[in-house]
Amino acid sequence: MASRIKTASFLDQFVCGDAIEITKSLPTECVDTIVTSPPYFQQRDYGSQLQIGQELSPAAYVQRLTELFSELQRVVKSTGSLWMVIGDKYVNGELLGMPWRVCLALKDSGWILRSDCIWHKPNAMPSSVKTRPTTDHEYIFFFSKSKDYFYDADAIREPHVTFSEKSKMKGGRGHFGKRGGTPEKGKNGGDNNLHDSRWDQAFHPKGRNKRTVWSISLSKFRQAHFAVFPESLVANCINATCPIGGVVLDPFSGAGTTAVTAQKLNRHFIAIDCVQDYCDIAKARLDAANLKASA
Ligand SMILES: C[S@@+](CC[C@H](N)C(=O)[O-])C[C@H]1O[C@@H](n2cnc3c(N)ncnc32)[C@H](O)[C@@H]1O
Repeated sequence: MASRIKTASFLDQFVCGDAIEITKSLPTECVDTIVTSPPYFQQRDYGSQLQIGQELSPAAYVQRLTELFSELQRVVKSTGSLWMVIGDKYVNGELLGMPWRVCLALKDSGWILRSDCIWHKPNAMPSSVKTRPTTDHEYIFFFSKSKDYFYDADAIREPHVTFSEKSKMKGGRGHFGKRGGTPEKGKNGGDNNLHDSRWDQAFHPKGRNKRTVWSISLSKFRQAHFAVFPESLVANCINATCPIGGVVLDPFSGAGTTAVTAQKLNRHFIAIDCVQDYCDIAKARLDAANLKASA
């Protein structure tokens, strides 16, 4: 077993090396949430001997990711979680189904699947395909380590749509009983269904519960030669599943979007990438964000 290093020596650092090896040296239960996007299967050559993604078969790729995510399960707290953003791949016009292959392998290895969110990209690159629809989404799989996990639904609520001023149902509360009433009063008073779901969905002051389709434009960060996370996508994950002051881990940190977002949201981060140039880009990006914040 690799010797474990104290969490403090990794906190708020970009660590260059293989995600599996570095994770083995992390202490048990030191991380609140993982937000990451693994290299996609045979998508891009990152030019490192250590890289994941260049395996010869989907099975070998899934096996390597499963090894990593099993080790990551150890370092996540019992209340912790994992958000994995992952896209698919066509070979000879046939979709491989890679996101679900990886997802099901992680379920089998003990992670509990909570949501299969869709990241819809309104500004996705056009494509010349004529035999199928153009892909403009990726998956965001949300897993927890245990049944009892930290999830702050209020932190990521979204605006109501049903009872907006423009809505035909602008009668609002009147639809649920006495106009201006509450689930406790009026003709629907005591209706548990109304209280637990419909009332909450329609009138919660912070908005309705987050939906599973997230429509977020691609990031404009151009220094990295690969797709970079949009900060708002990462912010949703962190706000919902990492308490303030907690620790967010990204084992495939790339240009450091998870780290930069975690710091802006007053969380600690641990960022791993096997390419030194990307660790340097990420560090420079974080320094620039700090400079901007202190100006
Ligand atoms: C899709 S990119 C991540 C982009 C990142 N989400 C961002 O916002 O910049 C995947 C990253 O995984 C890194 N990587 C590939 N194999 C790795 C390994 N075995 N250990 C650590 N990092 C690895 C690559 O160098 C690349 O930076």
